[in-house]
Amino acid sequence: MRFRVTIAVGLLIAACVISGAQQRPTSTIKDIMGSMIDPSADYLWEAVSTQISPNGDLSTRAPRSAQAWQNARRQAITLIEASNLLLIPGRHVAKPGDKSEQPGIELEPAQIEKLIADNPVVWTDLSHGMQDVATKILAAIEAKDAGKLENLGAELDEACERCHLKFWYPSAGPPALLIPGR
Ligand code: HEC
Repeated sequence: MRFRVTIAVGLLIAACVISGAQQRPTSTIKDIMGSMIDPSADYLWEAVSTQISPNGDLSTRAPRSAQAWQNARRQAITLIEASNLLLIPGRHVAKPGDKSEQPGIELEPAQIEKLIADNPVVWTDLSHGMQDVATKILAAIEAKDAGKLENLGAELDEACERCHLKFWYPSAGPPALLIPGR
């Protein structure tokens, strides 16, 4: 009997942990975008690039030292885990009183929150979509494969856009027409 009670209490505690009862999501989705996701993605996009000089010479930028690869790795880890942070229940989109910076194009925070609440599966899939690309990026970094890292940059951009088009500026139209600065 005592044993069964112990198991029941154990399961109850596990259920609380799994349901997120211990989590305290005080930062907003906007904060996570601006403080973690955007800076990490920018770092990774800028870490690799190919330039063509006016006389047609190709030059590539890529991490060259162990330290540079280590720095890139940190950003990939940040992206992977930030995607989990987007899934913590009860997190607000923006601080109270925050307004859309482009009304009519970008939804108001309250509209975004309603969309997320009404479409939790899509929100989860799109967060996981970004995480999947970031996981591939991590593998490319661990293999020190700059070419692959550069190709995955485009895939990462698409993963961001897919979610922004659904939840942030759904009226903005096909990706080709999107606002400068992503
Ligand atoms: C699962 C959905 C989702 C994914 C994936 C996602 N975003 Fe966002 N992002 C949002 C939402 C929703 C907002 C609007 C929140 C706000 O700013 O009010 C936003 C806002 C932003 C902002 C504006 C922040 C501000 O201060 O106004 C930036 C920058 C941004 N995202 C960059 C990115 C980048 C870069 C990626 C990909 C590496 C990405 N996002 C992936 C949902 C997502």
